[in-house]
Amino acid sequence: MVMRISSRLMSIADLVIAGEPVADIGSDHALLACYLVDEGRCPRAICGELGEGPYRRTFEAVCKYGLDHLIEVRQGNGLEVLAVGEVATVVLAGMGGNTIVSILNASPPKTQSFNRLVLQPMNALVEVRRLASSKGWSIEKETVVKDGDYYVNLVLNPRCRQDNKLSETELRWGPLLMQDAQKEPVVRDYYRFQLDKLERIIAGIPKHSTGRSLRRKQEYEKRKKELEEVLK
Ligand SMILES: C[S@@+](CC[C@H](N)C(=O)[O-])C[C@H]1O[C@@H](n2cnc3c(N)ncnc32)[C@H](O)[C@@H]1O
Repeated sequence: MVMRISSRLMSIADLVIAGEPVADIGSDHALLACYLVDEGRCPRAICGELGEGPYRRTFEAVCKYGLDHLIEVRQGNGLEVLAVGEVATVVLAGMGGNTIVSILNASPPKTQSFNRLVLQPMNALVEVRRLASSKGWSIEKETVVKDGDYYVNLVLNPRCRQDNKLSETELRWGPLLMQDAQKEPVVRDYYRFQLDKLERIIAGIPKHSTGRSLRRKQEYEKRKKELEEVLK
């Protein structure tokens, strides 16, 4: 059977270390792990799920695709389901940035035992980059995919130290994406989309506002300027 996955999931599959075991934490429908193993990109996979319902869903999907001899499904919180260095790549996708931060921060030595982290936060990207910057984990790649909405993928190498701390602008918009804005149309489109969003928010704040709403307006105007600079 040829497995089809969305372009959002395919963009993650393309970032996983080929030929090595992978773990998908928060796997839910298990499509990513099934695809990677079925295509022979990874020899085996571990799916981690927290709640009973998603755990069962993952387990049933793996059995449905006849891949239960190559994919192990484990129930537990975040990286707790993995032994130190058990896989090469850990994927955390489709969850909020703050959840990803708390999973990676629960045990930094365990997080640092994996070669690659592929992260696709649904929001709070700034917090995920802030964690990487504060721990000195190198951001090796950032990509954008449009699959209905825009999604940003971050590839971290927690074993390779990056000592220069990221600025607030880099945390917000991505140090590598900012460099790609001139040559990658999808990155420019993503930034233009963010710029439109900011302009709409600013337009909704009364002209002669004071106090908190004035400070909010000034903050959004600063972000707008940052994006205009990147898009120049
Ligand atoms: C929206 S689904 C994303 C599924 C898939 N990763 C994707 O990108 O399509 C998020 C999943 O993460 C799981 N999850 C949330 N917090 C978790 C945690 N701390 N440990 C393991 N799984 C978690 C949820 O149960 C849910 O099934």
